Amino acid sequence: MHYGADYNPEQWPESVWPDDIARMRDAGVTMVSLGIFSWSRLQPAPDEWSFDWLDRVIELLHEGGIAVDLATATASPPPWLAHLHPETLAADERGAAYWPGSRQHHAVASPVYRRYGLELVRRLAERYADHPAVVLWHVDNELGCHLPLDYSDAARDAFRVWLADRYGSVDALNEAWGTNFWSQRYRAFDEIVPPRLAPYSHNPGQLLDFRRFTSDTLLSWYLQQKQTVRDAGARQPITTNMMGAFKPTDYFAWAEHMDVISDDAYPDPNDPESFRRSALQRDLMRSLKPGTPWLLLEQSTNALNWRPSNAPKAPGQMAALSAQAIGRGADSVLFFQWRQSRAGAEKFHSAMLPLAGTDTRTWREVVDLGARLAALPELPPPAVDDARVAIVLDWPSWWALEAPDHPVALDQQAILWRWYDALHERHVMVDIVSPSRVAPHHRLVIAPALYLLTDDDAQHIADWVAAGGQLLAGPFTDIVDEFDRFPTPSDGRPGYQQRWRDLLGIRLEDFGALVSPDAPASEPGERLAPFGPSTDDAAPDARPGPHGVGTLLAEHLHLAGAEAEARFSAGRRAGDPALTRHAHGAGAARYLATLPDRDTALALVDHLLADPVFAGAHLRESEVLRRGQLTAGDVPGTVEVARRGPVLTVINHGSEPVTLQIPGRVLLETSALASAGGAPSARTESEVRVLAPYDSIMTLLDEPTP
Ligand code: GLA
Repeated sequence: MHYGADYNPEQWPESVWPDDIARMRDAGVTMVSLGIFSWSRLQPAPDEWSFDWLDRVIELLHEGGIAVDLATATASPPPWLAHLHPETLAADERGAAYWPGSRQHHAVASPVYRRYGLELVRRLAERYADHPAVVLWHVDNELGCHLPLDYSDAARDAFRVWLADRYGSVDALNEAWGTNFWSQRYRAFDEIVPPRLAPYSHNPGQLLDFRRFTSDTLLSWYLQQKQTVRDAGARQPITTNMMGAFKPTDYFAWAEHMDVISDDAYPDPNDPESFRRSALQRDLMRSLKPGTPWLLLEQSTNALNWRPSNAPKAPGQMAALSAQAIGRGADSVLFFQWRQSRAGAEKFHSAMLPLAGTDTRTWREVVDLGARLAALPELPPPAVDDARVAIVLDWPSWWALEAPDHPVALDQQAILWRWYDALHERHVMVDIVSPSRVAPHHRLVIAPALYLLTDDDAQHIADWVAAGGQLLAGPFTDIVDEFDRFPTPSDGRPGYQQRWRDLLGIRLEDFGALVSPDAPASEPGERLAPFGPSTDDAAPDARPGPHGVGTLLAEHLHLAGAEAEARFSAGRRAGDPALTRHAHGAGAARYLATLPDRDTALALVDHLLADPVFAGAHLRESEVLRRGQLTAGDVPGTVEVARRGPVLTVINHGSEPVTLQIPGRVLLETSALASAGGAPSARTESEVRVLAPYDSIMTLLDEPTP
């Protein structure tokens, strides 16, 4: 279990470094990420190199027993590179350059930038490949973070090569993009540009391929650096820090190239529900390499600098979120950054060592957590089947879903969060999977708005249902193929949902767009689509669904083999199916014709979990808990319950203490009381524990739950 931070010693005089190391030892730091933004100090001029200072820092850390996650330092080039080579600058969709003066202003596709970058990586790797302090290589930093899309000439040239590689001939591209529409037909790849500023809607195939190209280009830059590090003889694992469900980069495609998955997470303390957002992020990281721990490479000890309002974390919240990461598979807790900066854009960002020094709550919490993690025994890796419920997230579908010119504007993250939040509130462990990663151990899979579906993915999930899986597909699912076109009907039956029509047993006639519930009151049109249990007597297998309210879409469905569990009760679709169920092989596929609001998502999750097919399946982690004698009822939804193999983590994110009976041998406890001097959290005997707000507890269960 590593503990530490980004360490930016170049921001401080060398005389400060020994004090840094001494205080790191006080805090229990075991590893730092070093050199992430050091390029201009390592290569002050094109023909000038300066590694001496880095040698000395690494030596000091090594003497202090602190391991190094060494960065390749390519995350932001020095100003001289742009000065000598303006063609290395990235550009916006108008073609205007992003200038130096911040960070990450370079065009990742630029061959000149890459040539300089790889020279730096080679020298670093050759110098430190065998250094005993270096235990991990940190390629670049948050690839794509600030410049998710680059429209520069360098990107244009690379896009053309990428397209030629993908399609082979320009005719194939014309066919895939449907360029006979609006006179868009190309004669040669050299006529194609990125989707730069245009008078009206772009070609959807061009938009989607530019997204794919961008993700592939960022990945190819990671891979080139990784190869360079390996070629220099380095044997340590190599990673790059991801950013949760980050739209520009298809992390399912990236995961196989990471020796270890790593992540940066900054949940907003102003958002009382942000702990669910970070939980989802951890679950995605765990799902990227099933059965292996991942690394939390960045979080904050306290407030940030980059939101409009940067609230402090509540006492105990930093430790609680650290326990959340570990409980969901992390083998490290690292922060941005070690020592608060005295200059620069991030000088108000919290750090392990605050500007205000060691007589601070932040420092006491940092030291307390470091001591607790040092005492933590080695944990087992997460188990492949910790989660038996999965939500499908497919990056190409996300990109296509959020393109313009659809029945209604949809937000993929909001849809994902809606389902995840409901499952989290019901204490259900969830994998976040691409369609092809739906696996036999998954019992229930939710595919919300899987707009783009390939034939292979459609077949894979249909086979999984036939083998006994329970699927819930949301609206606007199975609409287009991998080129964002309506697929050609294979059997002469026109219409939507070509691949899953038989699986779902419905026929989708129309999408029934509603006005967003958030639209101004002056905007006319239907907003909500209420529904209730179907009273259809002819539904022997279907159970009456819940009451609920749908938003954004109220699709017009016809039953074609499926049974209705719920029907719309008002509005244009009153009386029509809202929730359907269709038996398929040993499993069943449900379809929801609308997007649920929050309470409705909870009601639907309860409906799904109550399906008799799940009897005894222990889908809810809270089943291993019992309320204490003092209170009765369900475990509150603000109490998080997570599994990591036999390790159970329980965290109180609510504002009131809770009394719970928590089985197992205690491995770790964190508490807000740490800020008052490291006192242990309140508890009573015999597994009955009082968890104050932001208290967490991790136990080792004697027997695995079935
Ligand atoms: C990101 C970056 C860090 C720093 C933090 C601030 O995670 O990787 O360099 O800017 O944000 O929160």
